[in-house]
Amino acid sequence: MINVALPKGRLGEKIYDIFEAAGYECPSIKEPNRKLIFENEEKGVRYFWVKPSDVSIYVERGAADIGVCGKDILAEYEPSVYELLDLKKGVCRMAVAAKKDFYDDGRNTLKVATKFVNCAKKYYASKCRDIDVIHLNGSIEIAPILGLSDVIVDIVETGATLKENDLEVVEEIFPISARLIANKSSFKFKTEEIETLMQKVSALIG
Ligand code: PRP
Repeated sequence: MINVALPKGRLGEKIYDIFEAAGYECPSIKEPNRKLIFENEEKGVRYFWVKPSDVSIYVERGAADIGVCGKDILAEYEPSVYELLDLKKGVCRMAVAAKKDFYDDGRNTLKVATKFVNCAKKYYASKCRDIDVIHLNGSIEIAPILGLSDVIVDIVETGATLKENDLEVVEEIFPISARLIANKSSFKFKTEEIETLMQKVSALIG
């Protein structure tokens, strides 16, 4: 049995469809209910819906053998897992954004609001830029508008949220997409099952 942690939400549903097409279907997952665990014994697969940012925790600790999470989460938390495959879904980017008239003259400590504290610290350390990180949990775009921060480090997908709040991308930090990850000891003990799944899924991604 392979235990799979999927991110709850639209991305997770898209990813499940790929797994289904790869031969790992579990029809009960599409029934309208609020269950979080679904199993197809015949196919040897069990799915869990978990919060996207928790997928790597389940996988790192072995509660799930494999899982799907964004490169943003892997970059931020650096979980000890194997990154097996780029699923090329949920494509977006980590970027610095600011108000349209903002110019960083480098004289003061830069105030940076973000959910991704480690990504922001790493990025600015690489530029030797002094920052004051403000950790927020959501609606990050408000911070520069209210003067809480100079810039934000956040995920940009369509750019609509920035546009509608009169912000713009100043710098791109790294591209993001969904990754298939595996628990290190599961990969050792279930190598064949996981590699077979990986090959079937990979063939559908192109
Ligand atoms: C994410 C991100 C941006 C938005 C970007 O927020 O933090 O706010 O999506 O998408 P866009 O470029 O297509 O507009 P999310 O929806 O996860 O909500 P949050 O405010 O809780 O971060």
